[in-house]
Amino acid sequence: MRIDIITLHPGLLESPFQHSIVKRAIEKNLVTVNFINLRDYGIGKYKQVDDSPFGGGAGMVMTIEPIAKCIEELKAQRSYDEIIYLTPDGEVFNQEKANTFSMAKNIILLCGHYKGVDERVRELFITKEISIGDYVLSGGELPAAIFCDAIIRLLPGVLSDETSALSDSFQDNLLAPPVYTRPADYKGLKVPDVLLSGDPKQVENWRLAQSVERTQQRRPDIWKKHDI
Ligand code: ADE
Repeated sequence: MRIDIITLHPGLLESPFQHSIVKRAIEKNLVTVNFINLRDYGIGKYKQVDDSPFGGGAGMVMTIEPIAKCIEELKAQRSYDEIIYLTPDGEVFNQEKANTFSMAKNIILLCGHYKGVDERVRELFITKEISIGDYVLSGGELPAAIFCDAIIRLLPGVLSDETSALSDSFQDNLLAPPVYTRPADYKGLKVPDVLLSGDPKQVENWRLAQSVERTQQRRPDIWKKHDI
């Protein structure tokens, strides 16, 4: 998989790709992540990338020319499965979408800023608009990092069998069960006996029951999906 991220703040994005599972996936060449500084495509002496909105109003709007030039340059080099704009008015990201996007070969992510991008960018180039939740962040960089983390960990070979993403919360519309490790007794707070029983069947049944209970209590919206 290759992910090209178009951003005005590449520095904001670097760290999440330099640690842990995502870093290892990059080192193993299971994914290539390329940051493109949109400023390099800016117009004129000041490399302008934004302008005031037609019709007035507060804030600046990202202009179409630098983005178009950048995306066209990328598209000339390879074909892309998706060109995704991170925006609070996009479709809300979830595990199902992460699973689908993880099967793509090449993806472009466009990080918005200010009051967003000129609508014609969305019409001309964007194939999906994704929000990471119903709150507004200062830009699309942190959402892009979250999006990438969620899909990269699903790529074959990234996680070992033991840490397989199949047992993650949400994969089967169930939250993950509680987990414990040593000590078995912390100031009187004891680990459930069943986990110390050494009986894998009993452990499995307990974990499933806990997952069901958690999902029913905490996420009735997800539990409802079991009826469909
Ligand atoms: N940009 C700003 N807020 C965002 C959000 N919630 N999701 C995606 N991109 C954003």
